[in-house]
Amino acid sequence: MVERTAVIAALDAVIDPVSGQGLVAAGLVQGLVVAEDRAGFALEVDRRQVAAYAPVRDAAEAALKAIPGMARVSVILTAEAASAPAPRTAGLSKAAVDQGRPKAPVPTDRPAHVRRVLAVASGKGGVGKSTVAVNLAVALARRGLSVGVLDADVYGPSLPTMLGVSGQPAYEDGAIVPHIAHGLKAMSVGLLTRMDDAMIWRGPMASQAITQMLSQTRWGTAEAPLDVLVVDLPPGTGDVQLTLIQKTPLDGAVIVSTPQEVALADARRAHTLFQKVGVPTLGLIENMSGDVFGRGGGKAEAERLSVAFLGELPLDPALREAGDAGRPLAAADPSGEMARRFDAIAAATASALGL
Ligand SMILES: Nc1ncnc2c1ncn2[C@@H]1O[C@H](COP(=O)(O)OP(=O)(O)OP(=O)(O)O)[C@@H](O)[C@H]1O
Ligand SMILES: [Mg+2]
Repeated sequence: MVERTAVIAALDAVIDPVSGQGLVAAGLVQGLVVAEDRAGFALEVDRRQVAAYAPVRDAAEAALKAIPGMARVSVILTAEAASAPAPRTAGLSKAAVDQGRPKAPVPTDRPAHVRRVLAVASGKGGVGKSTVAVNLAVALARRGLSVGVLDADVYGPSLPTMLGVSGQPAYEDGAIVPHIAHGLKAMSVGLLTRMDDAMIWRGPMASQAITQMLSQTRWGTAEAPLDVLVVDLPPGTGDVQLTLIQKTPLDGAVIVSTPQEVALADARRAHTLFQKVGVPTLGLIENMSGDVFGRGGGKAEAERLSVAFLGELPLDPALREAGDAGRPLAAADPSGEMARRFDAIAAATASALGL
């Protein structure tokens, strides 16, 4: 069991070259998470000095690893937000506030040169949310839109695998340069650290990393704005998700569900969560339709919720194999049945977003 005090002491023994103080005293340590045998935090520095701080990050990592009992360490280097963003309170119900979350309006950074931000969400894990996010992004791009995809799933970032991208992103003039894969600009929480460490990110550190990826990635430029950014949210309807959707300036959400009643109940909860923060649910997608789980539950549920039903995606091993191989099926087999279904979903989604 690692003590938080030991972690703070170790970090304060690493000197910030700019202020000459320890890292904690200098206010550079954000979102520190200490859990049993693991620790992680974001080292937040001036955006012009991100590259210069790489050795400091390495020193901090080494200092934490030297603590007895420490098994896993995750330090991400982040640039300070440039300006004070406007608070977002739209549609936040009094009930949500009364439950004590959030305590204050959470600020939101609108990413520059991004026309629309679309969330792909699910109430439950493992229903195919990431598969849908990636293939929907490909389908949107195939319709001629410029598309980015942001993997904000702090519990299990899967976009690097599904798109076949790896390696820390480059920084240029204080901005993160996204990877490009299958015609998409891509960023993942899994690219900011070793992938198996991302799971220790909770609460403040997760929000920090996502805010950074959202607002500091060069998604588009004034001349060539990004049409739509597809965000793969972590599954579930708890506090982490609530914070994320409040911090993310979303124009709409699509909810992925399997036909099972239990997954549909979770889809309902996801819809309620978006309603709470005033983000329109653009529709529901039934994934893994077929013999094992039945089918049709998604359409009925969409009717109950009065949201659009965007379509069924059958259980298809080729979809999984393509994802595992880093080549989304909508790109690998663009004339196939699955690509056609994703195209129909993309058409409906783009139209709902006014694209
Ligand atoms: N329609 C489908 N047919 C066959 N396999 C599928 C289908 N949809 C998703 N899968 C497979 O199911 C698994 C889970 O899918 P995916 O990772 O997209 O779900 P997720 O909701 O993002 O999960 P997590 O909660 O872990 O993030 C993956 O192996 C994926 O390839
Ligand atoms: Mg996923």
